[in-house]
Amino acid sequence: MNDIYILGIESSCDETSFSIVKNGIEEISTVISSQIDIHKKYGGVVPEIASRAHIKNITFVLEECLTKANLQMDDITAIAVTYGPGLIGSLLVGVECAKTLAFLYNKPLVPVHHISGHIYANNLVKRLEFPLIALVISGGHTELIYMEKDYSFKKLGETLDDAVGECYDKVAKVLELEYPGGPKIEKLASLGKPTYDLPIPLNDNSYNFSFSGLKSAVINLVHNEKQRGNVINKENLAVSFQEVVIKTLTKKTMRAISEYKVKNFILAGGVSANATIRKSFQELLEKEKINYTFPSIKYSTDNAAMIAASGYYAYLLGRRADLTLNAKATDELN
Ligand code: KG4
Ligand code: ZN
Repeated sequence: MNDIYILGIESSCDETSFSIVKNGIEEISTVISSQIDIHKKYGGVVPEIASRAHIKNITFVLEECLTKANLQMDDITAIAVTYGPGLIGSLLVGVECAKTLAFLYNKPLVPVHHISGHIYANNLVKRLEFPLIALVISGGHTELIYMEKDYSFKKLGETLDDAVGECYDKVAKVLELEYPGGPKIEKLASLGKPTYDLPIPLNDNSYNFSFSGLKSAVINLVHNEKQRGNVINKENLAVSFQEVVIKTLTKKTMRAISEYKVKNFILAGGVSANATIRKSFQELLEKEKINYTFPSIKYSTDNAAMIAASGYYAYLLGRRADLTLNAKATDELN
């Protein structure tokens, strides 16, 4: 079989990224242009500014990706693009770019769901082994997914309100830390002790999650302490918060692994860059003799390599879009 080169495009939030992946597993070149510095001063992503920055960057990022790979558009087999979910204006920039390239160079166009991208970031580390349980923890999603084979996604549970990453970012904001808050909280947490008592959210028998109660508990605690004139120990609060997050995530995940009798587990999404979360999972998984893969740190957060990797399997399955492809702010993973 001839080698298949997928050009991946990702622009669902504040990263403009292109990548070329060979046969779904071998990353040839990836370029990520992050807008974090632009959005930092607003304390979060400003959608209108994000779409404008994508428009400004997108052709340069494409050019750099092809140059780094020493390939031309003629060498590309198909174009895979994130069509959703995400910020609509941001998504549209990537989708329109993908459609233009597909039309100009007469290439197949493959629509990719952002979350399947996060899942297939693991395929760039090690070929996925099935059946598996995936825990997706990002800025917009918190989901437990069962996969029997490639592109078979059965959602076991999800967050009923805030996503884990969103909760990290909001807690960071109340602690006056810069966006994105996840990495800052992780760093603070490594310096503290879990002295604050916070509620374990949705401690039930479902596979759903809820993080808004935990977020409110932290916000209320900070405000109350401030009103009393007390100084918050940010390090201790960060570690107390993170411990509750880890307890919640690991408890439901390990139960799903046991109930579905799977031997394989993967972590996915931006929050999976967190070393303490990884270590906690690693200890539990090794104890239970479960095989696991974590995405490489650089491809835990948004990137196009994961979209190209996922796009390869979508391409093999014959998934195609035509030039009417539209961006979707929300869509079920399927
Ligand atoms: O997957 P991602 O890049 O974007 C979405 O699809 O949402 O995830 C971004 C999220 C942000 O909320 C960010 O704070 C969080 O991932 N994040 C982390 C860490 N690195 C990124 N959260 C906790 N610890 C980290 N080290
Ligand atoms: Zn993402």
